[in-house]
Amino acid sequence: MAGTLLDVRHLPKPQAYAALEVQAGAVLDGVVDRVAAMATFSALLHHGLGHLWTGFYRVVEPNRTLRVGPYQGALGCLEIAYGKGVCGTAAASGQSVVVPDVEQFPGHISCDARSRSEIVVPVFNGHHALLAVLDIDSAKPAAFDAEDVRGLERLMEWFQRA
Ligand code: SME
Repeated sequence: MAGTLLDVRHLPKPQAYAALEVQAGAVLDGVVDRVAAMATFSALLHHGLGHLWTGFYRVVEPNRTLRVGPYQGALGCLEIAYGKGVCGTAAASGQSVVVPDVEQFPGHISCDARSRSEIVVPVFNGHHALLAVLDIDSAKPAAFDAEDVRGLERLMEWFQRA
C-alpha cells in the first residue's frame, strides 16, 4: 500500500534499492509532477535508508545556482552555488559524488554537525539537462559506496521518463 514506508536497512543494498524502486514505481504511477516526485523520493529514501538528511537541491539558474527543494531532516541551507560543496561539485560535473569522510572534502558545506559521510547524485530530465541533485547525509562514516551510486542513479532515472 502506497501509504506504508518501507525500512530496508536490514537488506543488502541491491535488494534494498530494488524494493525502494518497486515502491516508488507504485506510489508514482501516473504522476508527472517533479516536485511531487521529489517529495515522494525524499520520504521513501529517508525512512527506508535511515540517514540524517535526504533531499533535493534544484537547478534555479543553470550553471550558477541550486536551491533547496523537497527534503526530510533538519534545516538545510537554502542555496548552493555550482562548484561549491558536495552538491555544487556534483552539479558542475554532472557526476555522482561519494564522500566517505566529509571532513576530508575541501569546501564541504555543513548543515548538520552530526554528518560524517555523504552522497550526491545528479538528476537529469529526458534531454540530459540537469534538473537537481539528490543529497543524502549520514551520521555514519563511509556509509555510501558504488552500490548506492548504482541504486540511487537508477531511482533518479524516473525524472528522465517523466
Ligand atoms: N553538505 C552539502 C550541503 C547540503 S546539506 O548538507 C543538507 C554540500 O556540501 O553540498
